[in-house]
Amino acid sequence: MCETCGGHGPSVGRHEEPGHAEGTRIVVVGKGGVGKSTLTALLARMLARQGFSVMAVDADEQRNLAATIGMDLQAAAAIVPVADDADYVEEKTGARPGEGAGGMLRLNPDTSDLVNRLSVPAPDGVRLVVMGGVRRAGGGCLCPETALISAAVAQMHLHHEDVVVMDTHAGVEHFGRSLARGFDTAIVVVEPTFNAVQVGVESARMAAELGISSLHLAVNRSRSDGDIVRVLSHIERLGGFSFASVTALPFDESVLQCEPAVDQLFEGSPLVDAMVRLSTEVVATRLHPVGSVA
Ligand SMILES: Nc1ncnc2c1ncn2[C@@H]1O[C@H](COP(=O)(O)OP(=O)(O)O)[C@@H](O)[C@H]1O
Ligand SMILES: [Mg+2]
Repeated sequence: MCETCGGHGPSVGRHEEPGHAEGTRIVVVGKGGVGKSTLTALLARMLARQGFSVMAVDADEQRNLAATIGMDLQAAAAIVPVADDADYVEEKTGARPGEGAGGMLRLNPDTSDLVNRLSVPAPDGVRLVVMGGVRRAGGGCLCPETALISAAVAQMHLHHEDVVVMDTHAGVEHFGRSLARGFDTAIVVVEPTFNAVQVGVESARMAAELGISSLHLAVNRSRSDGDIVRVLSHIERLGGFSFASVTALPFDESVLQCEPAVDQLFEGSPLVDAMVRLSTEVVATRLHPVGSVA
């Protein structure tokens, strides 16, 4: 159990309602390298193009969402991550980034200024917040920063057409129970391998235990229908898990041609076509903004 947030273990699964019922708050989880940042960037920009107001949060310490979402590299390098504003994090949570609080964090700080202070404009009108922080050996606890981000997302007054989508390092374990205060939806990304599915199922179970109610599976880099069958059979072997939806996302050579940015994929790519289906499952079935393309 983490000393600072009291979380990190399966036993912390107390359901806590998100702060506001409207809008959608999505956390993207899954094994490293399965496509989380690519999918987060595509989803954020796709929803922004459809008329949603989108905030993207980069909660991976490697901080590559800015480049993936299509910011130029100089602007991306100039972003001040939340964790680098140590005075602000301490003022809000009672602990400096990288330090345990030695006690309980303030989990309900007033974070109404966080978006104005620390978000930057990204393509298609997306706002981007980069969490930053340093991954520490062992637990990888990022408590002050994660508590702050979760509180900020929970406190946002989201309207129907507002979406928050957060890219993560892997799973949700280092977020502790504060996560479910901020997020109501998880996209679990896997590729068609047993190891990726195992990490995905563990992440899904943890997210469910933390109180995230809407869990969707994205099978990325699919090459055939057989890949979906294989993934579903791996899930069965692992004890089963019931996802709200399962979407196949194809292996797409053009992703590699234009990486790190996803911009050119919008000019026509099989991955973007499939992502429309995923976004419909995850968001458009809950929300119907004026002018949306479902
Ligand atoms: N559907 C896809 N087809 C082909 N390449 C992909 C696809 N999705 C992601 N990739 C590539 O796979 C690599 C890992 O993706 P990334 O989004 O960085 O994963 P993660 O954030 O989960 O670590 C990147 O080089 C990315 O361009
Ligand atoms: Mg990533």
